[in-house]
Amino acid sequence: MAKERQHKQACTRRELDETSFIIRHICFKKLPTSAIIFAFEDIAYAYVNHCMHMHRPLNCEQDDIFDETGKYLRCSMHGFIFDLRTGECQSPVCFGQRLQSLRLEEIDGILYFAEKHLTLID
Ligand code: FES
Repeated sequence: MAKERQHKQACTRRELDETSFIIRHICFKKLPTSAIIFAFEDIAYAYVNHCMHMHRPLNCEQDDIFDETGKYLRCSMHGFIFDLRTGECQSPVCFGQRLQSLRLEEIDGILYFAEKHLTLID
């Protein structure tokens, strides 16, 4: 189990505390993609970096994944916004659809993806 965990290390808690978000290239359910990882009110969240509107990464047009308030995730392609805690889209066209969340597990200051069908691509 410990060996399997090594291949799923998302980041350290310190890294997360020092930046607004981290992107990791992953393979999830056999598809190469990326994951966004961030902390909000001290809780770490991770989602597949894939907007359901036109299938783009949230940071495709701009090196950011948040709106100007910092209270929502935002896709930089057309500006759709998402609830930080649930990944639920708040914009009318895709209202109610959700970003794919990725479970995280923190052990000794290191965050691991707790997803069976996920491997890191480096
Ligand atoms: S592709 Fe994300 S809002 Fe359109």
